[in-house]
Amino acid sequence: MGVVSGIVMPFQFGTNWARLSDQVANVVGPLLAYEGLTAFFLEATFLGVLLFGRGRVPQWAHFGAAVLVAVGTLFSSFWILAFNSWLQTPAGFVMEGGRFMPSSFSAILFNPSFPYRLAHTVSAFYNTTGFVVLGVSAYYLARGRHRETALLMARMTVFFLAVMMPLQILLGDAHGLNTLQHQPAKIAAMEGLWETSAPAPSVLFAIPDQDAQANRFEVAVPQLASLYLTHSRDGQVTGLKAFAREDQPPVLPVFFAFRVMVGIGMLMLLVAWWGAWLAWRGKLEHSPRFLRIAQWMGPSGFIAVLAGWVVTEMGRQPWTVYGLLRTAESVSPTLTGLDVFLSLLFYQVVYLTVYAAAGYYLLRLIQQGPDAEPLPDVTARPTRPLSASSIPLESEVRHGH
Ligand code: HEM
Repeated sequence: MGVVSGIVMPFQFGTNWARLSDQVANVVGPLLAYEGLTAFFLEATFLGVLLFGRGRVPQWAHFGAAVLVAVGTLFSSFWILAFNSWLQTPAGFVMEGGRFMPSSFSAILFNPSFPYRLAHTVSAFYNTTGFVVLGVSAYYLARGRHRETALLMARMTVFFLAVMMPLQILLGDAHGLNTLQHQPAKIAAMEGLWETSAPAPSVLFAIPDQDAQANRFEVAVPQLASLYLTHSRDGQVTGLKAFAREDQPPVLPVFFAFRVMVGIGMLMLLVAWWGAWLAWRGKLEHSPRFLRIAQWMGPSGFIAVLAGWVVTEMGRQPWTVYGLLRTAESVSPTLTGLDVFLSLLFYQVVYLTVYAAAGYYLLRLIQQGPDAEPLPDVTARPTRPLSASSIPLESEVRHGH
């Protein structure tokens, strides 16, 4: 899905963000080019082998394809997050004729927020995937299907998640401290903090009202935000009112998305530790409650990831290049609101179609399950690429087609 949705992105840069593209191309263009060269080809090529090659190529080649797709995806994350991070914390450039020009490639690549964003986001992807694997194995175990494989899947995953979840949360905390340094308005929106205060309270719940520049129905713990943001009990945290109204991000979605991300993250941590404890005592498959909750938690990582992106991207508004280029100055010059609306609608239709098809395909794969049947004989076909398609799929073999 990353491969397919990635293709749509460059079109959107061209159609909707022409002024941004014109101004930053010399700096970030190479990052996208390296992504294409090092990651995209690798993913796109071996994804086909991974998805359709099972039973058609030798097992080592299928496994190799899976590893290469994973490596390609990691390279993709590296370059794309470097690009995104540069927009958030720009570095290594000079201005020439109104355009950003590179002065140091290493400073562009390793800009201040990049290491934190890369670490928090990549660990988020591993945990998200882990919960999908756990959810699927719980689905099989609860129905008594593919017991042996499902138990192996579940055990591997709970121990992995029990270590990776706390690590990701710690990385998220470090990421937040880095954001406090470079984008204090974003942190103030995440915290729902209007006044600059020392000590600063942690707002657990509120309905932020941007027009009134205040919170409604606030429930807050005194001093707590100072403690986790400045690591001192009376450290000062800058509030939203320190920024001009037109420089403030939209507070409501950032505030709630942050709580969704952190709330789900905490749930994921608890489920991971619970699962590891059950697996340790050999009771994983005998706890119907855990198996039910693990199935429900299957898509949890995706929701947390989306919430994370809302925090990051809405929280950096009203800038595309933080502090230097406004979003309103980045859109293509001759576009009307209707044009943007229609093209956005078109992108959404494309994404929804692609994701719906993927969802359907994945659910079918899960239904089908890991195969217990012998795979078709791959040596009994001519060694021409197109002949591969004449070998029946495992599911077809099983159903006697
Ligand atoms: C539970 C504790 C968590 C903390 C303290 C935390 C912290 C943060 C912070 C501070 C940001 C915004 C940084 C910025 O934009 O400058 C962020 C973004 C993000 N988070 Fe989390 N997070 C947590 C859990 C999670 C979980 C469970 C996931 C997904 C499985 C997740 C995925 C993301 C993603 C995808 C982003 C946007 C990418 C980016 O950092 O730019 N987070 N997180």
